[in-house]
Amino acid sequence: MDDLESIKAYLPEAVRACRTHSEQGEVAAYIPELSKVPSDALGICILDRYDQYVLEGDVELPFTLQSISKVFTLILALMDHGEDAVFSKVGKEPTGDDFNSMLKLELVEPGIPFNPMINAGAIAISSLIAGSSPQEKSERVLTFFRQITRNHTIDINHDVYRSEAASAHRNRSLSYFLKDNGVLTGDVEEVLDVYFRHCSIQVTCMDVARMALLLACDGTDPATGQQLIPRRYVQIAKTFMITCGMYNASGEFAIGVGLPAKSGVSGGILTLVPGRLGIGVVGPALNNKGNSVAGVQLLETLSTRFEWSMF
Ligand code: DON
Repeated sequence: MDDLESIKAYLPEAVRACRTHSEQGEVAAYIPELSKVPSDALGICILDRYDQYVLEGDVELPFTLQSISKVFTLILALMDHGEDAVFSKVGKEPTGDDFNSMLKLELVEPGIPFNPMINAGAIAISSLIAGSSPQEKSERVLTFFRQITRNHTIDINHDVYRSEAASAHRNRSLSYFLKDNGVLTGDVEEVLDVYFRHCSIQVTCMDVARMALLLACDGTDPATGQQLIPRRYVQIAKTFMITCGMYNASGEFAIGVGLPAKSGVSGGILTLVPGRLGIGVVGPALNNKGNSVAGVQLLETLSTRFEWSMF
């Protein structure tokens, strides 16, 4: 059992020291609404399977899931359609390109996105969410997030949603490209609407830690023993987190921190210690790879100190 008491004793100084690293990063501004947060914020929640947790730093700061949501829309699409259908639309390989790149869609046959963690792949996944209308699909996604966070109050941040919808020129071009390649079927704007909405779901570190703990427990809710997500799909999701969850810094993160993780441009990071801990971090200042500078530093510090490992 993890000694949360020793983590708790260690955290205040670790957060204080790592917060200073925020100066080396910048808050994302390509979605204008995201820039309205304190750049030196840093918060963390660590939750164990006995429902004990520690909180430190700016844990009340709400933030939107952004790319963290991609892990769970992938899971939902897998639950809706199974592996064969999902992997006919997205690949399983890291790209080495930026998260919003369209380069390889044209260069590499068969013109499907390389993986579901990059924007093109996640948009293709959004098109697979079952439902008879974009509203129904978005409702299903939100209901799923409320279930896995055990928080029925979480909702979409409509300012962030509108801000992204109004400024998503790159995602629109990716999506029309995917439509032309036959990856997206149906109305492109409707697919994008589902995508923008799941990126705009607002959470705190505690919600993210709870989602992470569910993955750490292979899809079984540790409180009830209920299998909320099939184990196979959790394994697929965690494998993508290792290979491409931190974008082009996934290898560096795997070596420096050694845990499956997923970041978002709002500065959130979801990570987990297999079988033991769910962890949610927020630190809005990002490095040039799009990951929270202070957040990555904090996780590296903690992982080294407490000898966390995915192996
Ligand atoms: O589509 C976008 O650009 C955002 N909604 C999500 C991107 C993101 O979080 C990339 N993460 N580092």
